[in-house]
Amino acid sequence: MKDPDEAKPDPHKLRRRTVWTALAAFLSAGAAMTARFFFPRAIFEPATKFRIGPPSDFAQGVDERFRQSHGIWVVRKPDRIFAIYAKCTHLGCTPNWLEAENKFKCPCHGSGYDSEGRNFEGPAPRPMDRASVELDADGLIVVDTSRLAQCPPGGRCEFETKKDFHIAL
Ligand code: FES
Repeated sequence: MKDPDEAKPDPHKLRRRTVWTALAAFLSAGAAMTARFFFPRAIFEPATKFRIGPPSDFAQGVDERFRQSHGIWVVRKPDRIFAIYAKCTHLGCTPNWLEAENKFKCPCHGSGYDSEGRNFEGPAPRPMDRASVELDADGLIVVDTSRLAQCPPGGRCEFETKKDFHIAL
């Protein structure tokens, strides 16, 4: 014959199990928070200083290869190469290069810039900035977008006087 007490759950056992479960949950949450502290979610920005290749890689005109990845256009003129920082000087949208019209056009409020990044229409107050460029020991162009030169409204453009904002050809 079966003992009637055998089917009843042991209250001490049940309490112990509940306490251990709560303790395990508490310790797991603590471990997760500690791991999160040592490995925070980080946003990896693209490098601000990067090589884009030798000058011979760039044909005459505006090169869009680095706009998406690094926010610049590389422009080759007969006598020099420079990098335009792809940010409208009105409120910071990214203009589009319109090859057929030979100009940059901002989609936000319509500012237009010529192929050197000089504003000529719309609300933009000044030309787009230029990023620093130099040749490294291997003859590759190094662009540094943490070093920008700008034209203040109605003022003298820094990049017209500073040599490290274009590469003479
Ligand atoms: S942000 Fe480019 S025109 Fe306003």
